[in-house]
Amino acid sequence: MSNPDAELIAAARMVRENAHAPYSRFKVGAAVRAASGKVYVGCNVENVAYPEGTCAEAGAVAAMIAAGEKRLTAVAVIADSPTAVPPCGGCRQKLAEFGAGAVPVTLATTDGLTTLTTIADLLPGSFTLAHMDRA
Ligand code: THU
Repeated sequence: MSNPDAELIAAARMVRENAHAPYSRFKVGAAVRAASGKVYVGCNVENVAYPEGTCAEAGAVAAMIAAGEKRLTAVAVIADSPTAVPPCGGCRQKLAEFGAGAVPVTLATTDGLTTLTTIADLLPGSFTLAHMDRA
């Protein structure tokens, strides 16, 4: 990949260290850049009641919303994996709620591999507000 988002990857890499992943032992970090330029981060937070765990991307989106921002312009996700880890289905929908289809999503590994994709590529044919327009 030619232009990895170094700032966003570094933020995701740092917050990944704080992940609470004693069950999967798979730590994930995520960072989103909001419209203001500010970066918000999140890590996965697992729970002994397994379905209650939350993904890194969900944490980053929640931090952005809690700070009063509504739009994201770039995303990065990082994990210790042989290949770059893409967001799960639920997180793709969460990212699409706050980011346009063209928003770049950098998928990174702790070893330095990066893959660039977009929200639209991750969630083709997504359900949107337009589908509820019954007027
Ligand atoms: N996980 C994330 O946090 N983000 C992803 O994109 C993929 C999966 C977490 C959820 C769970 O805590 C662990 O990774 C294993 O699935």
